[in-house]
Amino acid sequence: MNTLVVGAGALGGVITGRLLDAGAEVALATRDRASADQVLTGGVRITGVGGDVMVDVNRVAPLSDYTGQSFDLVLLATKAQAAIELAPKLVPLLAPGGTLLPIQNGGVPRHLADQVGEEYVLGGLSNLGATMIAHGVYEQRNAGHILIGELRGGNSERTTAVKQWLSQGISVRTTHNLRGSMWSKLLLNCSVTTIGAILGRTMREYVQLPLGRDVFEKTYSEALNVALALGEQPETMLVEPIPPPRTESGDTSQEYDGWFQQILENYGDTKPSMLQDFERGRSTEIEFINGYVVGLGKQNGMNVGFNEVIVAIVKAIVGGDSHPSADHLSAIIARAS
Ligand SMILES: NC(=O)c1ccc[n+]([C@@H]2O[C@H](COP(=O)([O-])OP(=O)(O)OC[C@H]3O[C@@H](n4cnc5c(N)ncnc54)[C@H](OP(=O)(O)O)[C@@H]3O)[C@@H](O)[C@H]2O)c1
Repeated sequence: MNTLVVGAGALGGVITGRLLDAGAEVALATRDRASADQVLTGGVRITGVGGDVMVDVNRVAPLSDYTGQSFDLVLLATKAQAAIELAPKLVPLLAPGGTLLPIQNGGVPRHLADQVGEEYVLGGLSNLGATMIAHGVYEQRNAGHILIGELRGGNSERTTAVKQWLSQGISVRTTHNLRGSMWSKLLLNCSVTTIGAILGRTMREYVQLPLGRDVFEKTYSEALNVALALGEQPETMLVEPIPPPRTESGDTSQEYDGWFQQILENYGDTKPSMLQDFERGRSTEIEFINGYVVGLGKQNGMNVGFNEVIVAIVKAIVGGDSHPSADHLSAIIARAS
């Protein structure tokens, strides 16, 4: 399967390095020539979970250098905004029957399928965690996998073929309900990750603040209501995505508290990736996370006030008009209610 990985960042670098190390032929596309030269000279080095790798990369170049070539698989490993901008340029690089595989969070695969045609796009998401230390130098942070599947649901030959190919280097799983899995991850990104980022804390730290758990629950449940209203069936990952019911008076039940503890145990101690974006002065993917939920909720006349205020706070932080702080909790409650 002639493969091009677009984006030599954390995930693109780890996926490329592990495939090359396993003997699979892969080409890598960077944003510019300087980063391509860096990878060409130093190769790819991976440390961390999954074992160390040091491998030469013979086919690495800026994306524009691949014009006129054709690939059976283009794995899109840029951030969300770049993925949306690049997708129309990537379709001409596909061989007949070729596949574009985005692995961004939130609404990206659906957006790309609407943009360029579902026949070209296989849905994907990453539970693999990685960081980039420099171009060509990466750390794998967990033993996670890439999850792939058709956006329309069900199985397909291309899902099986892509899994087989990529599994040479990385862990890949398939699902007949990719949209449900995307939503399950999105629910956590909207609540655990984004709220943690704007408060400058992990979830375990912020739910100990007076309004922390309340904001988590309201944000999560708004996003879940949007998913269910759209007919999506969020898929169980480490934790069941649909919480058990509360009592009739609205108090939490023992089952509900157990569900909340499971979320905390599985996700409560991770430093939010968006907080790292703030610290490094990088743009965020908020429009594809809480912003995606807000857009869909509003289209369907639903209340998405908590997510909407959170989007506004993220934009204020990125714009330099605010900073991560616990004070945002009372502001969210006041403005969203
Ligand atoms: N890393 C993780 O653990 C993880 C886990 C789950 C999901 N994700 C998702 O996966 C996606 C990728 O994440 P990441 O952490 O790998 O991001 P990243 O480290 O920022 O890598 C993105 C790469 O895309 C490159 N790029 C940008 N525009 C490009 C262009 N026009 N042509 C070619 N390359 C271009 C960037 O180049 P420059 O280096 O020159 O800027 C960068 O190297 C994101 O949507 C993220 O949310 C990541």
